[in-house]
Amino acid sequence: MPGGLASEILDLALAPAGRARVEWAEGQMPVLRSIRERFAADHPLEGAKVAACLHVTAETASLMHALVAGGAEAALCSANPLTVQDGVAAALVEQGIPVQATRGEDAEMYAKHVGALAEWGPDITLDDGADLLMLLHRWERHVKGGAEETRTGLLRLRRLEQDGKLSCPVIAVNESRTERTFNDRYGTGQSAIDGILRATNLLLAGRTLVLLGYGATGRGIAQRARGAGAHIVVCEVDPLRALEARMDGYEVMPALDAAERGDLFVTVTGSRGVLRREHLERMKDGVVLANAGHFDVEIDLDELRELATGGVRQVLPLVEQYDLGGRVLNLLAQGRVVNLAAGEGHPAGVMDMSFANLALAVEHLVVNGETLEHRVLDVPKEIDEEIARLKLESLGVEIDELTPDQQDYLSSWGG
Ligand code: ADE
Repeated sequence: MPGGLASEILDLALAPAGRARVEWAEGQMPVLRSIRERFAADHPLEGAKVAACLHVTAETASLMHALVAGGAEAALCSANPLTVQDGVAAALVEQGIPVQATRGEDAEMYAKHVGALAEWGPDITLDDGADLLMLLHRWERHVKGGAEETRTGLLRLRRLEQDGKLSCPVIAVNESRTERTFNDRYGTGQSAIDGILRATNLLLAGRTLVLLGYGATGRGIAQRARGAGAHIVVCEVDPLRALEARMDGYEVMPALDAAERGDLFVTVTGSRGVLRREHLERMKDGVVLANAGHFDVEIDLDELRELATGGVRQVLPLVEQYDLGGRVLNLLAQGRVVNLAAGEGHPAGVMDMSFANLALAVEHLVVNGETLEHRVLDVPKEIDEEIARLKLESLGVEIDELTPDQQDYLSSWGG
């Protein structure tokens, strides 16, 4: 047991099912697999203690395997209590990788688990929302560096940087091209719809889906839902994004107007109070509410509870029905991030590139950490290009290279 860190999981007997799930995911993660093979040969992470506060899924287990193959001691806790795959946690523990996470753990247990990883004294942190690295900063514990998976986490860490309090380099994995383009558009785009359908078995064709937020993730959800026959209404506060939505062929309108139109509402803004009393009061009977943003603050749950004078009923495992005195509103997965809480998160084929970014970010921090500025930093361009190259290779796709003449021509314009 590395550094004496104990595991706290639901049940070790779930390991065989978890292992099968991890093997299935690994089969769809060729980029991470090739990094793992190189790590196993060269051990570039020898001796590093890497603490990961990520969603405990089969894809994350593949990342943990790559880190361990590279010579790191690695430990895992969950970035979200509702997304833990208990079998996967058991499989990792069985393989000697400490995990502190159980599905559905309460806030106190969640904090205890993140705290245990912080106490463990990592050199490098991996976060999905920045909870672990923020805690280490509050405790004034130094780490060599961190890598962050989400926009929300980066917002928190950039605030620390602006206040002059960021005490290590942080690699903004979320902003690499191989992460952002594919995660948001293809990963969340598909998996948010998947989560909603698993929870409800709704027929999307012919329904009006109101999408609140038209960032990269919103665009992905809209594209997929349109493909399934839904009519899309977009609500946006950013005029450029709103214009883009309109030119992409969607209806665009304020949320108050959309509230009366929608059959299904999906929030994906990164902000809070996006659907609040005034919207909830106008909605039709039987609508479905889902959140695809990182935190469960986009739908105002306090106001929803206050409005539910007729009570709240659990009608399906992931559907709570709020009775507003004659009208019911159906909330999915308690307003938590629906692609992970009701589905399995991004498909492994997408996480392949995200976690390749994280694995290579860890290597970058181990090798260069001491020389990097204590700022939120981009993933080096070479890492991004290497990942895209490996992914293309795995898909059997070849591409052209610039001729020397083209290189001269283009560099002569570069100034
Ligand atoms: N974030 C989104 N999808 C994920 C997945 N499948 N595993 C880990 N983190 C994720």
